[in-house]
Amino acid sequence: PRHFAIVPAAGSGSRFGAGLPKQYLSLAGRPLIHHTLLALCRSPHIARVLVVLAPDDRHWAGHDWRDLGPKLETVYAGGATRAESVLAGLRALETSAADDDWVLVHDAARPCLSQAMLDALVDELAGDPVGGLLAVPVADTLKRQDDDGRVAATEPRDGLWQAQTPQMFRHAPLLAALEAAAAVTDEAGAIETLGLRPKLVRGDASNLKVTFPADLALAELILFARRE
Ligand code: C5P
Repeated sequence: PRHFAIVPAAGSGSRFGAGLPKQYLSLAGRPLIHHTLLALCRSPHIARVLVVLAPDDRHWAGHDWRDLGPKLETVYAGGATRAESVLAGLRALETSAADDDWVLVHDAARPCLSQAMLDALVDELAGDPVGGLLAVPVADTLKRQDDDGRVAATEPRDGLWQAQTPQMFRHAPLLAALEAAAAVTDEAGAIETLGLRPKLVRGDASNLKVTFPADLALAELILFARRE
């Protein structure tokens, strides 16, 4: 089976609070999403990379993406939720993907994905019947909140993981799962509603999702530290 990548990039980045959607913020001299797409386009595992943009995106066309090479394609069909944006990407692949081809869904907002992490995911899931995702064991102690903002309970963090992306599943079951699942926040969540159990592949904390301004500074440090 082949490997395709879908990058949902139709979010508005409202939690970040900048005027620009966060995928277009400047990171190490490039739009943030350029780093994200470069990691996927560079990987010899991946045949095509579909970036899903909002239908009214006014930022993509203002940049030069040619150095990312011929694997990159745009789909101007992002939806109101991340899941809808991913569905638009899956439908764009429908005519060319076989049912058991792999799709790696990766957040535009995770620009620090390394080749080592990508290789680990693809290698560990080769031949897997279900698929899986990069994730990291929870590091902090977890508190459940009461109605009055006080601690109701301390949750044991044993066996709890934070889901990252890429999340890698086969085309047909992922499409069916996302079409059926109403409110899921990731692809694994949709696959789980089919009664399947995605595999957790250990990622790395450096594969952070840029959500708040401090994350942007950290992502820049991570990228600079990797430069030879
Ligand atoms: O908002 P959040 O950080 O969870 O978004 C994760 C990814 O999903 C981002 O890359 C964002 O651009 C994308 N997204 C999307 N369509 C939406 C909402 C989010 O493609 N409607």
